[in-house]
This record gives sequence, structure tokens and C-alpha cells, in this order.
Amino acid sequence: MTTLERAEAAERAMIEELDRHVMKSVIYTSGERDPRLPIPRPPGNGKYYMMGHDPRLPRMPDRPTLFDFFKLRFGPTQHVMQSARLAQKNGAGEKIVLACLLHDIAVAGFIRGDHGYWSAQLVEPYVDPEVAWAIRYHQALRFFPDESVGYKYPESYLKLFGPDYKPDPYIERDYRYARAHKWYMSSRLICVNDLYSFDPNVQVRLEEFTDIVGRNFKQPEEGLGFDASPSAHMWRTIMWPTKYL
Ligand SMILES: [Fe+2]
Ligand SMILES: [Fe+2]
Repeated sequence: MTTLERAEAAERAMIEELDRHVMKSVIYTSGERDPRLPIPRPPGNGKYYMMGHDPRLPRMPDRPTLFDFFKLRFGPTQHVMQSARLAQKNGAGEKIVLACLLHDIAVAGFIRGDHGYWSAQLVEPYVDPEVAWAIRYHQALRFFPDESVGYKYPESYLKLFGPDYKPDPYIERDYRYARAHKWYMSSRLICVNDLYSFDPNVQVRLEEFTDIVGRNFKQPEEGLGFDASPSAHMWRTIMWPTKYL
């Protein structure tokens, strides 16, 4: 068996132990498998399908907060916390610090491709419009230098995407739009603080940002996911990623 086959077998065994069937959403496997093919059905052994909490994950509180998602559903978040701390050290206002703290949460917990747009959409109902705007456009601005603030094209992108990589036309279009916008610098500041926030030796604690989040993130009383905001369902999907319907 190859490593991948072994991992898949282990996963199947784990899923078989659950008392409910787990079906992955098409997007979780698209590419690894042809999304047009029918999804293989688990054996009809009388089990029901997963319709809520997945027991392989830590349980979320009934009224989850932003920090609960950071602690119980997101992957490593040192990068966003480092960039928020750096922004603070550089004298940025609370809105920018919050934007830095949230700018990559889609990568940490939801969907990686177009992460700036996803991150912005997740938080839009709960933050100042400028914060969501800045997060959305860091996606495009990240690819374009601005020497006036000392922002160069990231070295890491040369390594990650190769020297010939050219951003897609929609990224270039959004860059041009953002460049001429009154909030341009807010988004650019995310990029500036982003660039230097990958230090494996710096450990930041989420609690450093309790007050800033408390003042600038409108935590819904019902819990994130259970309010009726336009992105509540996205938070529920992060909480219950294997829900059948
Ligand atoms: Fe990013
Ligand atoms: Fe980042």
C-alpha cells in the first residue's frame, strides 16, 4: 500500500467506527477524484447520516465566539496573530490590527483559494466595512509592490509560484480598483504587516487581542453561526464540516 492508500484506509476505518455515515462535500475531494463521477455510497448497514456534530472534532460551545473558532476549528494561527501584533507595534489603529488578525482565517479554517474574499465574507456582518474591505483586497494587493510603503513582491511567492507566475486577470482588475480606492492604504497595511509575520520563534497568544476584538467585532448573542447574518451558514459549515445536508 502507498502512504496515501494507507491514510485512506485508516480514514475509512475511523469513519466505519462512527455511528453515522460521513459523506464529504464535492469540493473537499474535487481534483483528487473527478467531481462528475457519482460519489460511492457507504454500505446500507442501517446507520444514519451525519447531520450535526462530527465526533472526531472537539465540540463547540452552544454559542460559539470568534475565539472558539480560533481555538477549536482553525489550523495554526500564529501567522495572523504575529501580523496583528506587528501592526500594533507599528502604531496601526484598532481596525487595522483586527483586519490583520482576521485576514487569513479562510486559509486557517475554511477554503484556501481566493482566501481574501472568503475571509472578508466570513467577517463582513460583524466588523466595520473598512475592515472587511481591507481583508478582501489584500488578496489582490499582495501580488503588487508598493515601494512608497516599502512593500516588495514577496520572496516567498517566487519560491511558491515560480518566477513566471502572473496573477489572474480578475486579481489584476481588483488590484486596480483597490489602488484607486479611499481605503487602499488600510488593505496595503495588511500586506506590509503580512510580509514579516512568519517567524517560527515568535509566540503570540490570542488573549492579547481580547479587548480589540471585544470593541471591534460584533459578536452575535446567539453565537457565530446561529445568528441570521449573511455568513452565518459559513460559520456553521466550519463548525460541522461533514453535515450531510
Ligand atoms: Fe493572505
Ligand atoms: Fe497572511
